[in-house]
Amino acid sequence: MKPTTLSHLRQWKLDGRKFATLTAYDFSFARLFADEGIQVMLVGDSLGMTVQGHDSTLPVTVADIAYHTAAVRRGAPQALLLADMPFMSYATPAQTFDSAAQLMRAGANMVKLEGGDWLCESVKMLTERAVPVCGHLGLTPQSVNIFGGYKVQGRDEEAAERLLTDALALEAAGAQLMVLECVPVSLAQRITTALSIPVIGIGAGNVTDGQILVMHDAFGITGGHIPKFAKNFLAETGDIRAAVRHYIADVEAGNYPAAEHSFQ
Ligand code: KIV
Repeated sequence: MKPTTLSHLRQWKLDGRKFATLTAYDFSFARLFADEGIQVMLVGDSLGMTVQGHDSTLPVTVADIAYHTAAVRRGAPQALLLADMPFMSYATPAQTFDSAAQLMRAGANMVKLEGGDWLCESVKMLTERAVPVCGHLGLTPQSVNIFGGYKVQGRDEEAAERLLTDALALEAAGAQLMVLECVPVSLAQRITTALSIPVIGIGAGNVTDGQILVMHDAFGITGGHIPKFAKNFLAETGDIRAAVRHYIADVEAGNYPAAEHSFQ
């Protein structure tokens, strides 16, 4: 099997072929996901909550993400692997370069940054220095203290326009992929249509080019609050491998996320 690259994702968007992605944090799950057909994985800073047990992503460090990226890379050598730039690891240009370099050296193919048009300079500088960038808009969990909680974003027209403008600005600056989290389906549709780069949704309805789920949500092992967009594929199948295949099939067919997992 050949490595999955951004060219594949661009072609899938052109072909209207939806794709499923998962977060991964260790060797064994990464290998299992790759075996079952997951070609794009994210070492998300969600690991601060799912793996480390914190109540937000803020305590996660670049060293944490690099450690898990190296493990996932060993399990899924051919996957397109995204690594999250954690909180305050891209506040200045010098920090941004150093953090991105550590994650790319650990095995990432691309880094993901949370935020709007204030990131354009960083996106441009990283891209010029051979680091592909994925943007992340909507509910950006590193901003939980600004948002005052984990809330749906872009509900009113002004906020929706702002997100659309941010998305276009990030694409123009060089971003090659976009994650859109917890926005109304109609806004996700506008942004997915407006961008020529692939858009991966989570809590954004079935209208985006791809979907991502935190692996713990896909297997129903998330403690406490379960997000509306989450679906426990393990409950339906009773087997982890079958759950992954079911998730992929549901995303590709446009059956997941359904209306009950989406925000209007
Ligand atoms: O950290 C993460 O897992 C993420 C996904 C929810 C997109 O950013």
